Amino acid sequence: MKNSIFNSLLVAGIVAMTVGCSAPKSQEKEETTEEMAKATIASEPFGELPTGEKVTLFTMTNANGVEAKVMSYGGIITSFKTPDKNGNMDDIVLGYDNLQGYLETTPYFGAIIGRYGNRIAKGKFTIDGVEYDLAVNNIGNHLHGGLAGFDKVNWNVKEVPSEKGVALEFKRTSPDMEEGYPGNLDVTVVYTLGDDNTLEFDYTATTDKNTVVNLTQHSYFNLNGSKSDILDHEIMLNADQFIPVDETLIPTGELRPVAGTPFDFTQSKKIGVEISAENQQLAYGGGYDHCWVLNDDPKEMMLAATAYEPNSGRAMDVYTTEPGIQFYSGNFLDGTITGKNGVVYNHRYGFCLETQHFPDSPNQESFPTTNLAPGETYHTTTLMKFYIK
Ligand code: GLA
Repeated sequence: MKNSIFNSLLVAGIVAMTVGCSAPKSQEKEETTEEMAKATIASEPFGELPTGEKVTLFTMTNANGVEAKVMSYGGIITSFKTPDKNGNMDDIVLGYDNLQGYLETTPYFGAIIGRYGNRIAKGKFTIDGVEYDLAVNNIGNHLHGGLAGFDKVNWNVKEVPSEKGVALEFKRTSPDMEEGYPGNLDVTVVYTLGDDNTLEFDYTATTDKNTVVNLTQHSYFNLNGSKSDILDHEIMLNADQFIPVDETLIPTGELRPVAGTPFDFTQSKKIGVEISAENQQLAYGGGYDHCWVLNDDPKEMMLAATAYEPNSGRAMDVYTTEPGIQFYSGNFLDGTITGKNGVVYNHRYGFCLETQHFPDSPNQESFPTTNLAPGETYHTTTLMKFYIK
């Protein structure tokens, strides 16, 4: 059923689906302010995987003309355009112009990450006395779901109704033992682009065997439209503690106060202020790539982070139900990737704010559990609000 909806979109080529309005996008642009534009979703073919599977690119546009392009492959946000303080629209996420770029090499640009966002030490964990072996794809550890994680599969996508704006539902069943994880895992991720310039990620999963799950979204932001690196962005993290890691970025198990360290973002400060490579407190890669322990009750939506870029005036707030946030300052970007519009992604050209449970939780008894049992429902929500300051 889902596939037939999906296929009919492909057959039709570029299809404009609208919420409460049938005007195509081009017409909306001409609408006057008295007649507020309606949010829309359009879709078009975006190439083929080596398996022959067709990839579709969806364009979500809200009532203010804020536009997110998202593809079925990896649930990847390929472009996200918002206005700066002068009303100029810029693309504020990193990525490639075409599917081929994502297939050749990608540091998880814009993708859904699963089954386990972040690292699992040595790719091993034990459930019910059985040790599971996962792919070891990152200096001796398992990272971001393995060699073919949720970022590298073609999802079933359909538009779902939303009172907030427009929404797309990404669905798939990750089969038992996929990438070494036990249990058939039914996963649904809903992306909602709100008319209040919010992007919401809502994740649900159920399993038929005891397993572990930790889903996140790996968009790289550059609020200055990739015109410079991200060191002048000001970040606030609502966290009094962070998780120190060893030289392979595996938590030591300690939760350490940020006070008096370069990890203190409790008051908004420029990313570049204390990031210097000489600073031995930062792990390999020379920069931030750590999980912060969010203050407040992780069950409620709470403010986790803010980011602000002074040249453009763009700002974003991140709210989540998750207990942690991985702040990654793009340390491994080194100028070898040429991204959209020929822009070379030099060192620290993008940052990620990956809401999640803590890294290596399956092996860390004191961390909040990432276990999921049959009959339980995994459900987390993260919301990003974009505005001008
Ligand atoms: C995550 C990790 C980083 C790095 C990037 C992708 O954020 O924490 O160490 O692997 O993904 O390059």
